Amino acid sequence: MEKLVVFTGAGISAESGLKTFRDADGLWEGYNIEDVATPEAWRKNPELVQNFYNERREQVLKAEPNEAHKIIASLEEFFEVSVITQNIDDLHERAGSKNVVHLHGLITKSQSDKNSSLTYSIMGSNIEMGTLCELGSQLRPHVVWFGEEVPMIEEASFLCSKADVFVLVGSSLAVYPAAGLLQFVPSKTIKYIVDPKIPSVSAYQHVVKIEEKAVIGMKEVKELLLNER
Ligand code: APR
Repeated sequence: MEKLVVFTGAGISAESGLKTFRDADGLWEGYNIEDVATPEAWRKNPELVQNFYNERREQVLKAEPNEAHKIIASLEEFFEVSVITQNIDDLHERAGSKNVVHLHGLITKSQSDKNSSLTYSIMGSNIEMGTLCELGSQLRPHVVWFGEEVPMIEEASFLCSKADVFVLVGSSLAVYPAAGLLQFVPSKTIKYIVDPKIPSVSAYQHVVKIEEKAVIGMKEVKELLLNER
């Protein structure tokens, strides 16, 4: 089976009602990202950060996968599909995708503040201050904050280097190292870009731009992919 890599950003979850990062006035749900998504923010005001992610988690649990998530899952019938997402929601998994690499973590899990490889599932929507890991340190969201290591980047780069077909959905390609993944995709591999505001991809060859929102755009991509088989 041909290998299909689908690289997604916040835009694919927009039609599930979850806000993107840069569409608005640069605020994420009214907060400056550096006030809630950095290790410094956590050290300065852990309660604010913990509550911010508890609110985001509640939204994620209420959200439903949209048709774009479901189409990606349905392509596993025709391709060996790997999803690489910058999103911390679990909508790809809930839509049925089996191979999902979360570059920036997964909000439905917590991690030890002392050892990021110690992760735990979360019952319900809250991580409470005072809930400790087995090492006795505070549990925090299992999310990669700005300035932190992106442990899955090597695996993601490898998957991109093997892609026979590549799809980018709903990312402004504003944040590295995630945005640099496209350079690992073989130049001869066709790259479908789905976004109402196509990000700059002039450096890449064999690009097919689909200037649509994710749901409409992924219907088009599925048709193109299946017609070419
Ligand atoms: N369908 C498809 N794309 C959409 C839709 C939609 N309905 N609505 C918006 N978009 C596009 C925007 O045009 C933009 O290109 O989704 C993209 C969202 O870009 P960002 O908000 O920058 O999100 P993302 O690229 O995922 O950000 C990457 O930055 O803040 C960090 O860690 C955070 O993972 C995040 C990373």
